[in-house]
Amino acid sequence: MIQLHRVWKVYRVGPVRVTALADVSFSIEKGEFTVLAGPSGSGKTTLLRLLYRDDLPTEGEIQVAGYEVTSLRRSKIPQLRRAVGVVFQDAKLLPARSVYENVAFVLRVLGAPRREITPRVMQTLKAVGLSAKAQALPAQLSLGEQQRAALARALVKEPALLLADEPTGNLDEAISEEILDLLKEIWNRGTTILLATHRATLADQLKRRTIVLDGGRLLEDEP
Ligand SMILES: Nc1ncnc2c1ncn2[C@@H]1O[C@H](COP(=O)(O)OP(=O)(O)O)[C@@H](O)[C@H]1O
Ligand SMILES: [Mg+2]
Repeated sequence: MIQLHRVWKVYRVGPVRVTALADVSFSIEKGEFTVLAGPSGSGKTTLLRLLYRDDLPTEGEIQVAGYEVTSLRRSKIPQLRRAVGVVFQDAKLLPARSVYENVAFVLRVLGAPRREITPRVMQTLKAVGLSAKAQALPAQLSLGEQQRAALARALVKEPALLLADEPTGNLDEAISEEILDLLKEIWNRGTTILLATHRATLADQLKRRTIVLDGGRLLEDEP
């Protein structure tokens, strides 16, 4: 599902060069639940951004969901993005739109047939436990519910791969647990998951394969 071969990412900030990723190689099979761990600034977000082609590596090759990301034609980027769902620390919902509309929007952009939109949105909201909040505005939701809505938005296109960048970073412990349980359910239904977190305890608690970055280098890869 994911393969990185000798990936480097060097940012230039004026005269300064920042090495965000240094010679990183690993692969993740379809159906795995993998944790991407490492302290703040270790390169986790940079790595995820390369996977959904939000940015290009300075060097190296990346394959995601059957796409050669590094040489992907611009016209093929939407196809890659269809196969990859992404959630972030903050939910980034459209504030003036209902939960339903936030999720339905994705299917409209993808050109899904109109009659399919409502059933698919409602089924996805049910899967994240938000059926009752479909007509609510984001501001009327708790932070945990907002993150559930963000998950629904990422999942409604039925991606093969879900990338989660510190998705519990804004949540207290109890609500974090709920979101992690939900990620496990999503994984159990067949979605490959890569979860980035700087919280070592969270990585331990999940008991999944953990890829650890430190200063942009792959420090450990524990099955
Ligand atoms: N767009 C950017 N321009 C310049 N430097 C960046 C940029 N994005 C990230 N960095 C730097 O790359 C390093 C890794 O950052 P990041 O991938 O955000 O780490 P993490 O997500 O693990 O906290 C940091 O030193 C950060 O300052
Ligand atoms: Mg980050």
